[in-house]
Amino acid sequence: QEKLPSGYVIRPLSRTDNQIRSNTSFLKTLQVLTTVGSISDQAFQDRFTYLKQHSDQYYTIVIEDMNVSSTSPPTPSATPLLVTPGRGKIVGAGTVLVERKFIHELGLVGHIEDIAVSADQQGKKLGQRIIETLMAIGEQVGCYKVILDCSEKNVPFYEKCGFERKGVEMGWYV
Ligand code: ACO
Repeated sequence: QEKLPSGYVIRPLSRTDNQIRSNTSFLKTLQVLTTVGSISDQAFQDRFTYLKQHSDQYYTIVIEDMNVSSTSPPTPSATPLLVTPGRGKIVGAGTVLVERKFIHELGLVGHIEDIAVSADQQGKKLGQRIIETLMAIGEQVGCYKVILDCSEKNVPFYEKCGFERKGVEMGWYV
């Protein structure tokens, strides 16, 4: 995997990532995707607890820019997973959801969902780093494939990440 920009870390979503820091939080980051709605901190906590209770199924990661830390500057030697979450600002996010099938001898399929990079941070390869990390998680947990749905506009991005067109997405909205 290639490197993130200096001072940026990639790590699992944390319970404190809904706190607004430098006008950004996990939920604000998701607003580049679609309507997020108004979610109370309690509702966020409850959903986070559910994800943790199903931690072999939901893998949500974020990229945090530690350069904007309001407390202490980032430790140069800090490695991504050792960094204390909550000192910088969230600039990207993504999820891989692991589905357990009967077919393919109880095969596992990874579904990539809700990839978001803050508008002012796009084009720095952060999206690519998120996808690579989710693909690596899918591979490590034993998925035989990792799939996703996207708009036509995002096809070149996912092709750069190693995905190819397969099938047709269909939807039914209630
Ligand atoms: N068209 C053509 N090429 C693109 C596009 C595009 N729309 N987007 C990115 N690329 C290219 C980049 O130029 C770069 O190419 P290079 O290696 O030749 O320089 C490569 O793809 C990697 O791009 P990143 O810098 O990693 O892209 P970024 O960090 O901006 O993230 C993303 C891309 C996630 C699509 C971001 O623009 C975003 O958040 N958009 C709004 C929300 C969104 O559409 N999310 C995806 C929804 S689909 C889903 O969630 C499954």
